[in-house]
Amino acid sequence: MQHDKILILDFGSQVTQLIARRVREAHVYSEVHPCDVDDSWVRQYAADGRLKGVILSGSHASVYEESTDRAPQAVFELGVPVLGICYGMQTMAQQLGGRVEGGHKREFGFAAVRARGHTPLLRDIADHTTPEGHGMLDVWMSHGDKVAEMPPGFKLMASTDSCPIAGMADEERRFYALQFHPEVTHTRQGRAILERFVLDICQARPDWVMRDHIAEAVQAIREQVGDEEVILGLSGGVDSSVAAALIHRAIGDQLTCVFVDHGLLRLHEGDAVMEMFEGKLHAKVVRADASERFLGELAGVTDPEAKRKIIGREFVEVFKAEAAKIKHTHSRHVAWLAQGTIYPDVIESGGAKSKKAVTIKSHHNVGGLPEQLGLKLLEPLRDLFKDEVRELGVALGLPPEMVYRHPFPGPGLGVRILGEVKKEYADLLRAADDIFIQELRNHVDAVTGKTWYELTSQAFTVFLPVRSVGVMGDGRTYDYVVALRAVQTSDFMTADWAELPYALLKKVSGRIINEVRGINRVTYDVSSKPPATIEWE
Ligand code: XMP
Repeated sequence: MQHDKILILDFGSQVTQLIARRVREAHVYSEVHPCDVDDSWVRQYAADGRLKGVILSGSHASVYEESTDRAPQAVFELGVPVLGICYGMQTMAQQLGGRVEGGHKREFGFAAVRARGHTPLLRDIADHTTPEGHGMLDVWMSHGDKVAEMPPGFKLMASTDSCPIAGMADEERRFYALQFHPEVTHTRQGRAILERFVLDICQARPDWVMRDHIAEAVQAIREQVGDEEVILGLSGGVDSSVAAALIHRAIGDQLTCVFVDHGLLRLHEGDAVMEMFEGKLHAKVVRADASERFLGELAGVTDPEAKRKIIGREFVEVFKAEAAKIKHTHSRHVAWLAQGTIYPDVIESGGAKSKKAVTIKSHHNVGGLPEQLGLKLLEPLRDLFKDEVRELGVALGLPPEMVYRHPFPGPGLGVRILGEVKKEYADLLRAADDIFIQELRNHVDAVTGKTWYELTSQAFTVFLPVRSVGVMGDGRTYDYVVALRAVQTSDFMTADWAELPYALLKKVSGRIINEVRGINRVTYDVSSKPPATIEWE
């Protein structure tokens, strides 16, 4: 790759990845690395001349004094522009001879910032102008400490009532720093500010475009694989689908996709995957129909984690057996296992050493497969963010409905049927869920012009194995209950239940109760995450 690049050093803020995404939205390639890389790493990273600028992120620590993380000093000696954000500003100030003051009340939320000094970073960027003619920005702040004294060479670039030094700049060395967060969408001009930094100040070439990336990625896959064969586990999800389409574009019949159908997919999903990849793309796809095997293993099991383990284990077994068959029947050497790993899966975050994630749910994990199968790993999406994967998918000709789908968990309907999984339940759930999704796609919101499928991040139906009494015609029914779940979220770590219009809920419940014999009651889940999770199990 010959792209110019921006280095983002991560001090552990939850929104560091947003910085990288904003930079890439300006079509400049960027990478996130932990803040504790050393000087020689930084110099090596810059050695090929492609590094055009560095951004220091915020931190997970709310106060500067809580953290001992500092930027490698080499960052300030490379001769490229540096932008410090929040904690990144504070460490820049401290490391270059200024002073940070602690013990302040935490400032969190919107703030009005006055731009000062007409620096190249903020010049002509404003949300409004005061009667005196000062440019004002509406920004998002989240900090405790602040810079009390600027380092030598810096001038004031922005201030708020409670934070007199909310931005500072050394125009000669092209060092800039902001106490507020330009990467979050609450800062309305944030995108313009980051664009200004990478395009005008760093002069990075805006050549990171997914349409053009295809040729580069195809070339890289061909070089890596040579004339060997590749196996890929196709799930029907966005990442594996785009990976399959890309690899197929590169090496055609040297790719064999294995699609394990565990019988816990949505309505017609298996057929749709086959139709797309085998029918339209003419890729080689082996469909392993293992639904009986999965349902057999799940019989009598009610604990959610036990169900996940069984589904994960069986998936690996079925996949391994199919891969072994392919290895034996192919004339050429099967040497590669392809996976749809994406950039957020591989980013190593900084400043997080003390943070320990708690496992709430064990995710469907197929790690260790390449070693067990004796295959090398091919991961053509590992530099891409999810939105880039989607763009690439569309550029490769995959249908937008497939590429912009809501996420679907690996264990599938296995964790959406509460308690024991039975085929009868799965069939009822599939029918009900299909109606819900159809209606979400049919209902357009008058204000935004978007469908409710687009306005929600994830929506699905949950099967509750309890029966309630109903009346239909002249008769009494005693049937099952389903719950509808629809959430809005940007990161799936927290989520709000979606305020779906009553008319939509009414249509869905009417259709499910009338069309799905065996369900006579529909409920809507109004729990946010936390404390509830998105899935029910
Ligand atoms: P929760 O329920 O933890 O879900 O709030 C957050 C996101 O993760 C998905 N999810 C899973 N994905 N295997 C997966 O591949 C799993 O076992 C699993 N459990 C939850 C869930 O659909 C949501 O997008």
